[in-house]
Amino acid sequence: MIRYFCFAIIWGSNHHDLPEQETLRIHPVALGTVRENHEPFDLNGVVLPKGTWLSFYNRPLHMDSKYFSEPYKFKLDRWNEKHTQGTFFPFSLGARDCIGKDLAMKEAKMAIATLLKNFDFEFDPSWKLKKTTQLSVIPVNGVPVTARRRVANPQC
Ligand code: HEM
Repeated sequence: MIRYFCFAIIWGSNHHDLPEQETLRIHPVALGTVRENHEPFDLNGVVLPKGTWLSFYNRPLHMDSKYFSEPYKFKLDRWNEKHTQGTFFPFSLGARDCIGKDLAMKEAKMAIATLLKNFDFEFDPSWKLKKTTQLSVIPVNGVPVTARRRVANPQC
């Protein structure tokens, strides 16, 4: 039964991307992207000469209440409403966005489903998240959890 349930989550409709999507909004693992303009560009009266490097960071927009109400809350139903284009880009945007984004979402589902099928997890409620940026954004010293192996249900 659990096996079929996991299968449904993994290969089901896009609706099941919402937990991963909301997690990547609050905790994007890639900071954003960099682009170089090939023509001079007028940005609200400031002309950026050709060859300017522009950095686009996703988290300031992901956490802007103008675009996401109560941005610090994990809310799946926010994705039922349309969001402003260009305000959510954990995998960047445009022709050179992440080529592996669909695979990454499937891998996340597969990993989470496998872990939850085999273990019960307990978090220390006093633990506070501190992040650092290396190649990607990661928690300092990991995330301490206690994992207990679940007893197999012979009916599954
Ligand atoms: C949560 C997981 C991942 C995140 C957050 C992520 C994020 C990103 C971002 C932000 C870019 C930059 C795109 C740009 O500059 O516009 C990128 C590029 C890229 N990613 Fe990912 N990525 C993930 C997983 C993967 C996986 C699983 C693969 C391959 C199996 C992959 C392959 C690539 C490639 C090849 C590029 C370069 C695309 C290009 O330059 O045309 N990524 N990714």
